[in-house]
Amino acid sequence: MTQENTQHPVRKAVLPAAGLGTRFLPATKATPKEMLPVVDRPAIQYVVQEAVDAGLDDLLVITGRSKRALEDHFDRIPSLEDQLEASGKDKLLEAVQHASDLGDLHYLRQGDPKGLGHAVLRAKTHVGHEPFAVLLGDDLIDEKETLLEDMIKVQESTGATVVALMEVPQEAISAYGCADVSVVEGQDYVKVNRLVEKPKPEEAPSNLAIIGRYVLHPDVFEVLEHTGPGAGDEIQLTDALQELAGRDGEGGGVYGVVFRGRRYDTGDKLSYLKANITIASEREDLGPELREWLVEFAKGLETA
Ligand code: G1P
Repeated sequence: MTQENTQHPVRKAVLPAAGLGTRFLPATKATPKEMLPVVDRPAIQYVVQEAVDAGLDDLLVITGRSKRALEDHFDRIPSLEDQLEASGKDKLLEAVQHASDLGDLHYLRQGDPKGLGHAVLRAKTHVGHEPFAVLLGDDLIDEKETLLEDMIKVQESTGATVVALMEVPQEAISAYGCADVSVVEGQDYVKVNRLVEKPKPEEAPSNLAIIGRYVLHPDVFEVLEHTGPGAGDEIQLTDALQELAGRDGEGGGVYGVVFRGRRYDTGDKLSYLKANITIASEREDLGPELREWLVEFAKGLETA
């Protein structure tokens, strides 16, 4: 790896979307979980939008079987557009066209679903020797936040790998990758000393969880090539990053941006419902009525 290679600006994003969505069965029997709506847009569209807003213009979605709806969603449907235009439904037409105008999307199947690390490794040829972002679809970051932009800046100044971290209650840490970090004098990011995927709460080195945003040095591919199965018997991205964290020099080192902003989790049913309510209650078109209704609804719960 030459110094020149890593001085590339970050412009590519990888969006792993091959998960089976078992937590949402039977809704995900014939519909990819990434297509479940959050208010009126499929969850994956928020993530694509976030990548595009951060200036990334080349997006690779890692898909799997039964994920055709994803490709259809970001494609044009001329007959639908004609119909909306003819009936003067301009706002809907705009919304439909927006999804297909978002950016340059590419698709690649994962093949065997062997874990997140394996999904990211599939992007090797497409990404080449450039730093790149990875965005996981279960985590939605509020559109007013600048997390990904901040992470890209840290990657560009350190030349290393950057993960997004967030404090979670200690008992929740076993659902995440967990980071042991130390302060970097004079900087607003931290140095990651050690990463553990899904530790038991009593063994976790901290309550700092990796949330689904990464800006990775391309050396991660070489590490993933020899990373064996870890937690859950899957090839874990966290394990590859742990190896990078222990390396010095070019390509080595992992830094963390600690996020204190607004994140919505759509990964399980309860948090998915909360995400829908929170996002809808802040929308101009739905918020005022929904908030009013929620207050009344909550009163009813108190008296019940
Ligand atoms: C994945 C990662 C984990 C990370 C989490 C964030 O886990 O392996 O390190 O903390 O995403 O959402 P998953 O949720 O796919 O089990």
